[in-house]
Amino acid sequence: MADIIGGVVTSHVPAIGRAIAKNLQADPYWAPFFEGYAPLHRWIEKSKPDVVVVIYNDHGLNFFLDKMPTFAVGAAPSYTNSDEGWGIPAVPAFTGQQALSWHIINALIDEEFDLTTCQEMLVDHAFTLPMALCWPDQATAEPPQGGLLPSGGGREQRPGGADRWPVKVVPVCINTAQFPMPSAARCYKLGEAIGRAIRSWNSDERVMVMGTGGLSHQLDGERAGFINREFDQQFMQSMIDDPKWATQYSIPQLVEKTGTQGVELVMWLAARGALGEQVKEVTRNYHIPISNTAAGLMVLETQG
Ligand code: DHB
Ligand code: FE
Repeated sequence: MADIIGGVVTSHVPAIGRAIAKNLQADPYWAPFFEGYAPLHRWIEKSKPDVVVVIYNDHGLNFFLDKMPTFAVGAAPSYTNSDEGWGIPAVPAFTGQQALSWHIINALIDEEFDLTTCQEMLVDHAFTLPMALCWPDQATAEPPQGGLLPSGGGREQRPGGADRWPVKVVPVCINTAQFPMPSAARCYKLGEAIGRAIRSWNSDERVMVMGTGGLSHQLDGERAGFINREFDQQFMQSMIDDPKWATQYSIPQLVEKTGTQGVELVMWLAARGALGEQVKEVTRNYHIPISNTAAGLMVLETQG
């Protein structure tokens, strides 16, 4: 049966893509952010994942307000990226782990989750930037020809093809773009069910679970720029000692505490739910601000 080796939860601010494209990792603004990812790279080197289940939220690239699934799971042979308007370079396509996709889809539907299944799916910055933070060489190794630099208008998919990345992927998308949104408690349960599905998959592959988004941020309205360090710190600690802590809050309460886009923390909860009761903290980083966001990273290893 497949092993879940651990989880990575991280922010996915689009400005990270611009910083990578311009090689600004050592710049004083960016260093405290990018330095936090060095222990993640060592952990990946040691843990050797084969496949990543990426739990993220689409921001209008694959789904728009006219058709908005609450939960969507990708089952495509490959997933391409394109810029949904931030002006960041597209990364090479990702190869899907279709057998695991269908295994998860069947298991979740058996457990009474109503899903949208996607045999074609574009992945946005919330998927690609966390992957680029995990595997920076794969995201940037290509010379700046096939669309690495802004060339006006649309961005082309970069050459290199679907086997550039050293892992296969299963995208799991949770709606945090349009009300009504699934509650934090529901997202945690989704994660638990994803965890059970992965552990019951008849395969030797080593599975990493990723949750992207957060932490506190609000991009618009009267409270634009709102950040809540105290809540974020408590939330990060709860990922270790009390993983269901944040599920006590409704979505409106989370908006109040973390900002309108801070609700993206439900992706962290879903990833945490997949990891089982006990986890060991490998590393964490928290830095304010990256763009308008409190940026967080945690790497959690499954126990037992
Ligand atoms: C920002 C953060 C996000 O999570 C996002 O999806 C877009 C923008 C920001 O802080 O700029
Ligand atoms: Fe976001």
